Amino acid sequence: MSDPVAAQYEAYPYPSRNPQDEKTRLIDGSPSNLKEVDHYVFGGARDFRLPFRALVAGGGTGDATILLAQHLRDRHCPAEVHYLDVSTAARRIAEARAKVRGLTNIHFHTGSLLDLAGMNLGRFDYIDCCGVLHHLADPAAGLAALAAVMQPEGGMGLMLYGALGRRGVYEAQAMLRILSERGEPLTAGIDLAKRLLAQLPQTNALTGNAAIGDYRRGEDAALVDLLLHPRDRAYRVAEIDALAHRSGLEIVSFINPWRYDPDSYLTDPTLKARLADLAPLERASFAEMLAGNIKSHICYVVAAGRAPSALARPDDASSIPVLREADGPAFARAIKNDRISVRSDGLEMSFALPRLAAAILARIDGQRSLAEIQRLLESEAGVRPAAFDKDFAALYKVMNGIGRVTIRRVRS
Ligand SMILES: C[S@@+](CC[C@H](N)C(=O)[O-])C[C@H]1O[C@@H](n2cnc3c(N)ncnc32)[C@H](O)[C@@H]1O
Repeated sequence: MSDPVAAQYEAYPYPSRNPQDEKTRLIDGSPSNLKEVDHYVFGGARDFRLPFRALVAGGGTGDATILLAQHLRDRHCPAEVHYLDVSTAARRIAEARAKVRGLTNIHFHTGSLLDLAGMNLGRFDYIDCCGVLHHLADPAAGLAALAAVMQPEGGMGLMLYGALGRRGVYEAQAMLRILSERGEPLTAGIDLAKRLLAQLPQTNALTGNAAIGDYRRGEDAALVDLLLHPRDRAYRVAEIDALAHRSGLEIVSFINPWRYDPDSYLTDPTLKARLADLAPLERASFAEMLAGNIKSHICYVVAAGRAPSALARPDDASSIPVLREADGPAFARAIKNDRISVRSDGLEMSFALPRLAAAILARIDGQRSLAEIQRLLESEAGVRPAAFDKDFAALYKVMNGIGRVTIRRVRS
């Protein structure tokens, strides 16, 4: 195999997955949770009773493929999910996972996403490309190849490494290149990596990076992916914006939105006021520098100019709020002291929730519109429309920000 990246994933498919685990759990994640795709690509208005075509480019061991195929099957959508990867070893694991689940809506292909134009797979409503473009010699050519097979009204979910959150990674890679001898097998590199990690001083940037922890489990595939990769690069927010524009695309939103909002971290009113009028991407760049722990940037992109209509907003009373995990009452019961906490890449955050948070959450069932929830609360507890609107807006900012609530406009 001439491409060193393809050779690596043939020898060490990543992430490691045991197909039998499909019997007991579904791995949910971003991008490609279907509720999220609907919210950030289709304005919440996609009717999944109609045909839907998805491509998972660089599908690896199958996480996004399985998630999409399962969600689409659950909705009885006449869908096709196309998996594409250069690694046949990774494909075998993804195929075994699909088999355990009995998923028949997946088409498996072996090849490079750079060759999509000649594969005659047709156009796709949605394309997942998670953790792949940053391994290509020319990521822009990769994104252009994907854009060429995307429906004009479709979109993509991307993940690219974050430069600031990966501090220490590239120095460790450089040290391992110095330590390695030419032509040595990967097993020798793994041994050297384990030895080096065991000796990193406290002051080393990787040691001090709480966002990067996968390698601490000592799993070979994770060590190879992080420290012995023949080709990887990392991005800042502005660089992803530029990359998207080169392919005629634009960013709808980064995931999760709270991490890209300076107001999540700052309380000082002077600082907040200075940032208030910046464009969303400038605010996102600021937040990236402020937090310093974003090790991978996840975002949804659509054709340039379409972002405002691609993003669902909770502005009107007919919007249907949807919880990522369906049980609203359980979520409401879990709220403690009107706050909700999240932990991301070493940072623990706690957000204040409005007075009506638990009451509203308990009535979100994925079918009721905002108007219907308000009427219920009015009849049960005398909540007037203005009070509801104010508290829902505050609740939505937090819950959408942490990836727990999306909007849809189509009833099932
Ligand atoms: C880090 S893994 C990510 C896998 C998967 N997307 C995920 O998020 O779990 C990167 C994958 O991209 C695949 N890959 C690398 N270059 C590729 C290319 N040019 N075309 C298709 N797949 C590629 C690798 O074989 C590997 O399975």
